[in-house]
Amino acid sequence: MTLEPGPRVTACEDGPLLVRGADQWPGPDGEPVRIDRPVVAVCRCLRSQRLPWCDGTHKFGASSPKD
Ligand code: FES
Repeated sequence: MTLEPGPRVTACEDGPLLVRGADQWPGPDGEPVRIDRPVVAVCRCLRSQRLPWCDGTHKFGASSPKD
């Protein structure tokens, strides 16, 4: 029996979470959003116009991403 590895999450300093191997992630309304890519960047600063995904807006603000 082989155990499948679960999703892996890496926090980028002052940036998004990089999520590898997930097939869904909670959207802004709490409903799951389907993932069909091997790696996605999830917004931590909550300023993205494409939540739950990072759109790069974190690079232009004064506040740091939330944990
Ligand atoms: S972390 Fe990139 S826009 Fe929020």
